[in-house]
Amino acid sequence: MSEGAEGYTESFGMQWLRHSRTQLDSFTGLKLSEERLFATTGWPRDMRGQRILEAGCGAGRFTEILCKTGAAVTAFDASVAVEANRRNNGHYQNLALLRADILNPPFAEGSFEKVLCLGVLQHTPDPEASFHSLVRFVKPGGEIVADVYRKSLTALMCWKYLLRPVTRRLPPQLLYNVISASAPVLVPITAALRRLGGPALARLSPMVEYSRFGLASEVNFDWAVLDTFDMYSPRYDRPQSVPGAKKWLERAGLEGEVFPGGNGVIIRARIPESEARCRREAS
Ligand SMILES: C[S@@+](CC[C@H](N)C(=O)[O-])C[C@H]1O[C@@H](n2cnc3c(N)ncnc32)[C@H](O)[C@@H]1O
Repeated sequence: MSEGAEGYTESFGMQWLRHSRTQLDSFTGLKLSEERLFATTGWPRDMRGQRILEAGCGAGRFTEILCKTGAAVTAFDASVAVEANRRNNGHYQNLALLRADILNPPFAEGSFEKVLCLGVLQHTPDPEASFHSLVRFVKPGGEIVADVYRKSLTALMCWKYLLRPVTRRLPPQLLYNVISASAPVLVPITAALRRLGGPALARLSPMVEYSRFGLASEVNFDWAVLDTFDMYSPRYDRPQSVPGAKKWLERAGLEGEVFPGGNGVIIRARIPESEARCRREAS
């Protein structure tokens, strides 16, 4: 793995080892990960007989759901998060987990019917190059689904992009301590702002919280600390517009759909069967 990816994902390793179970449906008792995965991909719940690659799997909130579909799942991450994922999902016989860089993972081209990449591309130095790298591993006739933060005026006018020039340079442990120490005050204030004025008022707080999803209050507290750290700590945060992501498909010669979703821009593309011939000729 390139030293670069190992270095710039250090904060992710730290957050996923500390909050290894926080976002797992099997921990919250809710279906937040399951619903997001199937709404984003449109994939069926039974995928026995298919091979699925999950890029940037983190602690495995989506790995867990993929494993339950019966597919043969391969999940990788550049950071030590794979150890958290192994603790969470290592008991699934249909799962292979490894540490690798999205730009250079050790797979043969065209080996997966489906490739999934959620919440990752914006955190790589070149999101388009990362997307194109993953396309290589989809079998002709197969499908890739990814999401990436959305670039829009409202998305950019928030505390995150104002504070990140400083916070992303802080030692991760220091930043984590500051966020944890602020949470007992800021989580209730943020929730109250949302109740009073919806998302617009909640944006006045530099913290995020998810009590509206029905999380138990200790889980909401943990999730708030985790996601706030996840906003301010990553070395890279490169959101994309819908037209920009459409250009990725054009440049890759792919047909598909690009549309705004709950977690940013969703990209779904199918690799044409004719690609098999092109790849054979190129090799
Ligand atoms: C915000 S987390 C999302 C994790 C998981 N997909 C989820 O939604 O819970 C982003 C993940 O991408 C991983 N990542 C970032 N750059 C990567 C790269 N070049 N190769 C592989 N993984 C990478 C990070 O280590 C981190 O675990």
